[in-house]
Amino acid sequence: MLNQRVYNAINDQINAEIWSGYMYLSMSAYFSSEGLNGFANWMRVQWQEELSHAMKFFDYVVERGERPILKPIDAVPEKWDSAMHAMEETLKHEQKVTSLINNIMDVAIEEKDHATKSMLQWFIDEQVEEEAGAQEIIDSLKLLDGKGHGIYMLDKELKARQFVDETAE
Ligand code: FEO
Repeated sequence: MLNQRVYNAINDQINAEIWSGYMYLSMSAYFSSEGLNGFANWMRVQWQEELSHAMKFFDYVVERGERPILKPIDAVPEKWDSAMHAMEETLKHEQKVTSLINNIMDVAIEEKDHATKSMLQWFIDEQVEEEAGAQEIIDSLKLLDGKGHGIYMLDKELKARQFVDETAE
C-alpha cells in the first residue's frame, strides 16, 4: 500500500521517464538524418535506459500492491539546430529530471515513506551519471569547436555505447 501523494508522484514519473525516452528516440532519428550514426546510437541507448527507468518505477508500484496508471505521452521535439544544441537540451532535460526525482524524495520524506526513499536513492545516484554523461559530450564538442575530423572521431566513439540494464543490478 502506497501513500496517495507518493503514488501520484510515482505515476507522474513513469510518464516523465517514458516521455524522456521518446524524446531521445526523436533525437536519435535527428542524428541519423544528419549522418551522425554514433550520436544516433548514443541516443538510442538513452531511449532504452529511460524505458528501464520507467519500468523500475512501474515494478515498484506493482510490488507495493498498487496499479500503475499510464497517462498520455505528450509530443516531443523533432528538430535541433546542431549536435551541440541537442546535447545542451539533453543536459537541461536531465537537470529537470533530477529536480523531479528530488521532489518525489521530498514527498517520501514528508510522508515518512522509508521504502520509497530507499528505492529513490538509486535514481538520485543515477541522475548524477545522467548529467555527467551529457556534460562530457558537450565538453568534447566545445573542444572540437565544429572541426569535422574531431566530430567524426567523437561520433565513432559514441557508436560503441551499448545498453546495460543497470536497474537489474
Ligand atoms: Fe531517467 Fe535520463 O533519467
